Amino acid sequence: MRIILLGAPGAGKGTQAQFLMGKFGIPQISTGDMLRSAIEAGTELGLAAKQVMSEGKLVSDELIIGLVKERIAQPDCAKGFLLDGFPRTIPQADAMKTSGIKVDHVIEFDVDDEVIVERMSGRRVHPGSGRVYHLRYNPPKAEGLDDVTGEELAIRPDDQEETVRKRLGIYHEQTKPLVAYYSAEAKAGHCAYHKLDGTQPVEQVSQHLAQLLA
Ligand code: AP5
Ligand code: ZN
Repeated sequence: MRIILLGAPGAGKGTQAQFLMGKFGIPQISTGDMLRSAIEAGTELGLAAKQVMSEGKLVSDELIIGLVKERIAQPDCAKGFLLDGFPRTIPQADAMKTSGIKVDHVIEFDVDDEVIVERMSGRRVHPGSGRVYHLRYNPPKAEGLDDVTGEELAIRPDDQEETVRKRLGIYHEQTKPLVAYYSAEAKAGHCAYHKLDGTQPVEQVSQHLAQLLA
């Protein structure tokens, strides 16, 4: 099953990707997580992405497209994958299409901007795994520590309110057009398109997703 998770920063893509990975046994391809690992490792890609990401801007289409194509070619993607944070521009979606990478489901997470700003202020992440928590809505079992490894949780550097608002602006300008793009793809019979209410509690969103994809 090949799935695109489409939605604003903080809409819950990473949170539900963890659920879907467990349910369907397919890997999560989070371009954001891949870039953060590259920054951590100090690779050339990381050096190119660091400043851009901390300012809440998008990394160049060219870099991202190369990264995703390479990842999808790996054997563990043969029976499907979850794209989290890609594509997020029309050129990225076009590049997928011209490379012959097909998708079965596109899932749009609908969440208002103000809910997102509030959510991001309480987010904590486990950098090693991509697991995501929220101080109030999805707290770890032990304060400040990852449930699985017991390692310390971190705050993402791009989660300050000013940067979140900038990321939301870029989402509306450059990523939102993908709603019309994939709605048209669905009408043409190339994939299924689902819009879900991302403001429901985490477990309810997961349940809704399980129903959609059953
Ligand atoms: P990326 O890492 O992809 O960030 P994003 O798209 O901005 O999305 P987030 O990870 O912030 O949010 P999410 O939807 O995963 O929400 P989460 O589940 O964490 O990208 C980061 C940067 O990398 C970009 O700004 C760009 O610079 C670069 N980049 C990445 N991909 C790129 C691309 N394709 N092209 C160019 N540049 C790219 O949830 C958020 C919080 O809410 C958590 O605390 C969570 O616990 C909580 N929460 C989740 N669901 C619920 C719920 N239902 N109710 C209450 N709280 C909830
Ligand atoms: Zn995420």
